[in-house]
Amino acid sequence: MILVTGCAGFIGYHLSKKLLKKNIKVIGIDCLDNYYSKNLKLKRLRLLKKHDKFDFCKIDLKNFKKTYQFLKKKKFNQIIHLAAQPGVRVSLKNPYNTLSQNINGFINILEIARIKKVKKFIYASSSSVYGDSKIYPFNENDKENVPISIYGSSKFTNEILSSAYAKNFKLKCVGLRFFTVYGPLGRPDMAYYSFLDNLRKNKPITVFNKGIMKRDFTYIDDVIKGILDVTKKNTAKNHMVLNIGKGKPDNLMDLVNFLQTNYGKKFKIIFSKNIPAGDIKKTFSNTSKAKKLINWKPTVKLKDGIKRFVEWYKVDHGIK
Ligand SMILES: NC(=O)c1ccc[n+]([C@@H]2O[C@H](COP(=O)([O-])OP(=O)(O)OC[C@H]3O[C@@H](n4cnc5c(N)ncnc54)[C@H](O)[C@@H]3O)[C@@H](O)[C@H]2O)c1
Repeated sequence: MILVTGCAGFIGYHLSKKLLKKNIKVIGIDCLDNYYSKNLKLKRLRLLKKHDKFDFCKIDLKNFKKTYQFLKKKKFNQIIHLAAQPGVRVSLKNPYNTLSQNINGFINILEIARIKKVKKFIYASSSSVYGDSKIYPFNENDKENVPISIYGSSKFTNEILSSAYAKNFKLKCVGLRFFTVYGPLGRPDMAYYSFLDNLRKNKPITVFNKGIMKRDFTYIDDVIKGILDVTKKNTAKNHMVLNIGKGKPDNLMDLVNFLQTNYGKKFKIIFSKNIPAGDIKKTFSNTSKAKKLINWKPTVKLKDGIKRFVEWYKVDHGIK
């Protein structure tokens, strides 16, 4: 039995679905926040609730008492903690919310992992911890990297806290640094999704730094496989962080082209010189550590992943 926090979110939904399909019991927690469409979260939840091995509770992890009360008697041997306030840009608009969600929620679930003596505590970190590093590809052992956004700092703080818990309490902790995850039932706040929304509504899109940005776009199925591999493998060290990225950055304009080709319509594009504060020009993961330790290798190219995403989007919006 596995506890998944943020199970109504994009990654949490796909992960829970996969675990349930494998006949593994899932205890899911989510507060269903309104960062983006609550209907989308409820839809994911409805799909998960079809499985009788899914046990859900709407809880805000910032509330230790309620979270612990719910989990006290539950049996689970691993925690996969995904609940957080994601997004670099929103962390500029409302830094306090990002910090309180991502740090207060984190310490509560980390403490519960200690009390419950779970076998493994796996949590979502982010490529944002690398800040604007120019040392490519981003390597887990590079110590020069400093986050430049509030969001990145909150994730880096998670890594420091879990490392201390691992040392002091022999709790096995694995932080997964995800790189721009995309796919069906994804997050409407992210570029690949919001661009397509604009295309459908005949609205222009703005691309920053005149479109000269690169992202290590990682398809959701590869990410889920990575998380599952971590749950299965006996990770020797008490604390470690792993890059979960495609290992090959793509141009933002390639994303734009794949979206319009698959949708069958041209974008109206506003090329802006600006780069929003906290944004990174290029992300690029070194995935050799994940290959070595958990034998994980991403397989889906951006071209194919976007094709699958657009196919899903069209069905979801009743577009022929
Ligand atoms: N999607 C990406 O590209 C990406 C990249 C790097 C890191 N991450 C991290 O991966 C994790 C999952 O991301 P996602 O894309 O699925 O985001 P998401 O927003 O779709 O999912 C997060 C879920 O957590 C829930 N949540 C937030 N705060 C909570 C709280 N205090 N208590 C209970 N539930 C709470 C939200 O309601 C949401 O359903 C996050 O930690 C995110 O920071 C995601």
